[in-house]
Amino acid sequence: NGLNALAKTQGKLYFGSATDNPELTDTAYTAILDNNMMFGQLTPGNSMKWDATEPEPGTFTFSGGDQIADLAQANGQLLRGHNCVWYSQLPSWVTSTTWNATGLTAAIERHVSTVVGHYKGIPYAWDVVNEPFNDDGTFRSDVFYDTLGESYITIALNAARAADPNAKLYINDYNIEGTGAKSTAMQNLVKSLQAAGTPIDGVGIESHLIVGEVPTTMQENLEAITALGVEVAITELDIRMTLPETAALLDQQKTDYQTVISACIAVEKCVGMTVWDYTDKYSWVPSTFSGQGDACPWDENLVRKPAYDGIVAAL
Ligand code: XIL
Repeated sequence: NGLNALAKTQGKLYFGSATDNPELTDTAYTAILDNNMMFGQLTPGNSMKWDATEPEPGTFTFSGGDQIADLAQANGQLLRGHNCVWYSQLPSWVTSTTWNATGLTAAIERHVSTVVGHYKGIPYAWDVVNEPFNDDGTFRSDVFYDTLGESYITIALNAARAADPNAKLYINDYNIEGTGAKSTAMQNLVKSLQAAGTPIDGVGIESHLIVGEVPTTMQENLEAITALGVEVAITELDIRMTLPETAALLDQQKTDYQTVISACIAVEKCVGMTVWDYTDKYSWVPSTFSGQGDACPWDENLVRKPAYDGIVAAL
């Protein structure tokens, strides 16, 4: 029995993992990743992002994304597409052009329709818009918002729906795990999209968390979001610690993983959970958060940590 098999017994669609193309040559790594009793869903960590898929205007490259989509299909795993419109990992032609509204609208529409259209019928869901908010709940200033205001979100969602009518369309963000200004802002955005008739199916709760700091309001927050009539998913779970690792930190991490997974299990419309890679060997954390790491349920030798048992305890 693996994590995905257990998640399904709890009525969830999947327990999944992010992965990235360079790791796929590591056969010890892929032996675990490819087991659909363990992982029933994959998310490409980088290879479907704008800089990877449209490095030059109108020139699309799908080799990296296709490798992960093909792997998921070969393994009998669901796929989450990630992502269409995000302030980060943009090619310089997007960030360095002085756009007017008409030009940027056309660029977003071409990007979203081509990428989502390429994978039509394959992903369970797409993170159509990624990380639109600041932590205080205001919209993030970036090329999209500064040129188009909130309308860029509608433009992207409409283009995604037209390109793949069966994919669930998500907005994904971090620091919306518990109640607070940022989650409230996400809920207000969902309501305003619904009122305008814009397609929105789900909210992705990234869940890049810190050991000992899992919000106590997570279940309540997930209930509040799903009460709006959208689903939620835990999309990028990892729980990092300040290094060096100690037995006490690993034990707290086990508790924290159990808390997060339990919150999703308790919320009917929390459809699935994804770890942002399953092993510390390939985690993004140490290179992003200085002095922190060991955030995943498997260690860098691909050995299960107490966190794995915490997940099992919740499932
Ligand atoms: C991260 C990848 O894991 C890294 O390899 C890359 O260098 C930066 O992006 N939120 C997201 C993900 O939505 O796309 C990010 O992925 C992690 C934070």
